[in-house]
This record gives sequence, structure tokens and C-alpha cells, in this order.
Amino acid sequence: MTTDLSTHPLVQHYLTILRDRSTQASEFRRCSKCITEVIMVEAAKQLSLDLMQVQTPLEIADGARLSPGVVFVPILRAGLGMLDPAMGVIPGSSVGYIGMERDEATAEAKCYYAKMPDFRASTQVFVLDPMLATGGSAAQCVEQIKAKGAKNVNMVCITAAPEGIAAFEEAHPDVSILAGKIDRELNDQKYILPGLGDFGDRLFNT
Ligand code: PRP
Ligand code: URA
Repeated sequence: MTTDLSTHPLVQHYLTILRDRSTQASEFRRCSKCITEVIMVEAAKQLSLDLMQVQTPLEIADGARLSPGVVFVPILRAGLGMLDPAMGVIPGSSVGYIGMERDEATAEAKCYYAKMPDFRASTQVFVLDPMLATGGSAAQCVEQIKAKGAKNVNMVCITAAPEGIAAFEEAHPDVSILAGKIDRELNDQKYILPGLGDFGDRLFNT
């Protein structure tokens, strides 16, 4: 299942700044943070709660806290831009890392680094990558996460191409995708159109 948040005014606002080629790295980082917070609040709707009671200054109130067991997996490099804001929205989470890089000629992704915790069946995993283009990086990452025992995996991105969504859904029909915006298509170099260019380069000013 894919959720497209493009009707949210904050998503439209921040995505427009991210798309703008004149946006400099510091502003790009700030807006990546803001748009991720909005997307993560949406993603957090599915989290489970543990019921509890809390002592207010006046009396005991019924309350609830997030159940533990959330793991974020940012896909390096670009996913790093989403990690801090995601952890800010869902406190108490753990983090696994995976490095994926697309071959410039073929656009095929290869994994060059992975450091992940062991997942329980109950762990809620959120893979963070701002761009879902062909879907290759995300699909390989999720494969590794499932191989480590995770059963509840979600993909969180800022923009996604229809081609990538289709490929990803075919590989992982059980994984939901939450996207700020579903863009139009991929170009011949497998970049998202209209897109925002190379997210990693713009985030890290390279
Ligand atoms: C970008 C982006 C995604 C991937 C998406 O990473 O951050 O991870 O491309 O493309 P895909 O869906 O076709 O696999 P890139 O390979 O440019 O590496 P970087 O983040 O280190 O710049
Ligand atoms: N990776 C990016 O950073 N941008 C794209 O448009 C596609 C892949």
C-alpha cells in the first residue's frame, strides 16, 4: 500500500523549496528536516501504545506511551538527512545503518555497508530514504532487514517514482510506502522527474 501525502500544505511548502535548484545546502538540510517531521508524524499513526497511568499534580490520569521496539534504518547517504527528525518524532528508537550506492551507468544499487540490530517479529522498522527512483536500493535494503527477522517494515520517502513504487511493491507486497509526493516518472538516467536532483549531493554539498 502506498500513501501519498502531497495534499498536506507543509509537504507542498517544503518540497517546493527542496525542488528549487537555487536552494542552498543549509536551507536544503533545514527543509529536509521539516518535511521528514511531517511525514513521520503520519507514519507514527500506526504505532502501538502501552496503556498506563500517570500522576498529575492533581490526581491520577489514564495515559499511554509508545510501545518500545521501533528501529530506523536510514539508507546512506541521503537517508541520514531524515534520521534526526525521525528520532525526534519517535523517541526511544534504535538505529541500523545500510549504505547503498547506485552505479552511475546502470542505476543498479549495490550495498557497501550494513550494521543492523537483530529484529524481533514485533519490531516496527522504518526505512528512511528520501528518493525511491527505480526502487532497487529500497528493495535490497528491505530484503536484508527481513533476513534479520523483521516482519513489520515500512518505507518512508520524500518523493517516489511510479516505476519504483511498482517494482518495490512487486518485491515486497507486505511493506507499506509512505511518500511526501509521488512524482511523474523517471528519466533515461533513472532520475525522478520533476524530482529535486541528487538528494545526497544537495544535502551534503558535494
Ligand atoms: C540515491 C538515493 C537512494 C537511491 C534511489 O542514492 O538516496 O538511495 O539513489 O534510487 P533507486 O530507487 O533507483 O535505487 P545514491 O545511489 O545516489 O547514493 P547517495 O545517497 O550516497 O548519494
Ligand atoms: N537518487 C536521487 O538522489 N535523485 C533521483 O532523482 C534518483 C535517485
